[in-house]
Amino acid sequence: METLGTVLIVARGGPQWTATADVLSDEYDYRVLTARSAEDAAGALSDANVDIVLAEHGPNGDGLEFLTNLRVSHPEVIRVLALEARTDLTQAEISPAAIYQFVRKPLDARQIGLVVERGLESRELARRHRMLSREFKFAADSIKIHGRHSLPLHAESQHFEKLVYVSEKLSELCDLARKAARTELPILIQGETGTGKELLARAIHYNSVRRTSPLMVQNCGGMSDELLQSELFGHKRGAFTGAISDRLGLFRAADGGTVFLDEISEVSPSFQVSLLRFLQEGEVKPVGSDKTQTSSVRIIAASNRPLRALVAAGKFRQDLYFRLKGFELEVPPLRDRPDDIPVLAEFFAAKHGNTIGRRILGISAGALEKFISFDFPGNVRELENEIRRMVALAEDGEYLTTKNMSLSILAAPPRRRTGVAKGFASEGATLKDKVENLEKRVLEEVLAHHRWNQSRAANELGLSRVGLANKIKRYRLDESH
Ligand SMILES: Nc1ncnc2c1ncn2[C@@H]1O[C@H](COP(=O)(O)OP(=O)(O)OP(=O)(O)O)[C@@H](O)[C@H]1O
Ligand SMILES: [Mg+2]
Repeated sequence: METLGTVLIVARGGPQWTATADVLSDEYDYRVLTARSAEDAAGALSDANVDIVLAEHGPNGDGLEFLTNLRVSHPEVIRVLALEARTDLTQAEISPAAIYQFVRKPLDARQIGLVVERGLESRELARRHRMLSREFKFAADSIKIHGRHSLPLHAESQHFEKLVYVSEKLSELCDLARKAARTELPILIQGETGTGKELLARAIHYNSVRRTSPLMVQNCGGMSDELLQSELFGHKRGAFTGAISDRLGLFRAADGGTVFLDEISEVSPSFQVSLLRFLQEGEVKPVGSDKTQTSSVRIIAASNRPLRALVAAGKFRQDLYFRLKGFELEVPPLRDRPDDIPVLAEFFAAKHGNTIGRRILGISAGALEKFISFDFPGNVRELENEIRRMVALAEDGEYLTTKNMSLSILAAPPRRRTGVAKGFASEGATLKDKVENLEKRVLEEVLAHHRWNQSRAANELGLSRVGLANKIKRYRLDESH
């Protein structure tokens, strides 16, 4: 399901839009998401990587206002406005900065296909231009500093919708998640708190065939059975005190879509039975009703307590566990994938800098070294909170440094590498020789570990890229070693 780009249509619907959506996905191979309200659209924008938004303006919706706001919140998204044939909006009122292009109704699906194609092309060109000028500037700087250009820019980060990563562990996980998304099987996502389970669940929904139907989220922690039962299965009026009208329930409301059950480990034994029945039969019986109805939803469940252990301890039904884990995805803790720390840190610095309108140049090597040494019990959430705080304390146009770092992170002892120092420290006659030999070995090992990706090696060593390049030159290390 590799697509050329993602188009989000924000419109009330109707045959013209259905036809347009079909042409964009079938003939042009775009992934098409649809939203009937600004609220739905905000959900899709926050969960999926959207390239282009097509919004309707007319009696049915205020597309112009929506796109104008989008320009601030998601400046990278291409904005196309669809106008009623007769509209009181004059061309002069449509700011060219807010809108890339406008089209008129009746919609011509193929014309829209071309507008989308052209929009994506011009954005790609702008992106390449930006990268090239960065590279030229960088090459010029590094020639000025040490007479040669050998350092790559930052490791390109990868994305699975809103998940950012470079580590092999997360690449493998996201590859598996992409495959799992295309099936109809339930998915169980496990991992410590703050590792990105919910972000992964949302990414999966938007990569499944159910993406044009709703994604609904239910947190199962800290809820009474009665409440959870009626939230998910619905209830009849008068079924219990306080049930003043019929309630549809999430499973019916999400028919055709996905239900994300968070903190699944927390549900009671009797609720586990109801859930198992729903997974087996797809039947929903609202509380207080004797009629069953059917609903087709895909379940994604998450837990930060390992279900297998709860099953072994007799606290979770084994049959339900087996049902839930059509696919079992384990999100590793951040400390087990330190490669992700630099890209995440840069990503959050840019994101939160943007939000408060502060220009952050990057993160100092010293600060990165501290982050890499810290074991982040709160995982990515904790890293993000720390960076948000550091951005708030930084001045405009600064790097984030250890100056504004929390004491707990500053106090982390340096990460130990096993196997490096053993046996080499005795090489050489003087202390200086011994130290230099050791330094050379450490550099070699870390470079080899990162397959000569100098940015990552520099990050791990707490050196700047230039500092590392100087050492490589000094010790005459090169890739053939
Ligand atoms: N790989 C990632 N890229 C970008 N942001 C991430 C990544 N992983 C996590 N985050 C961010 O970290 C925060 C926590 O993620 P999320 O809520 O998905 O974690 P969780 O595993 O569901 O946590 P909990 O178990 O506490 O519910 C969110 O703000 C999320 O956006
Ligand atoms: Mg969560």
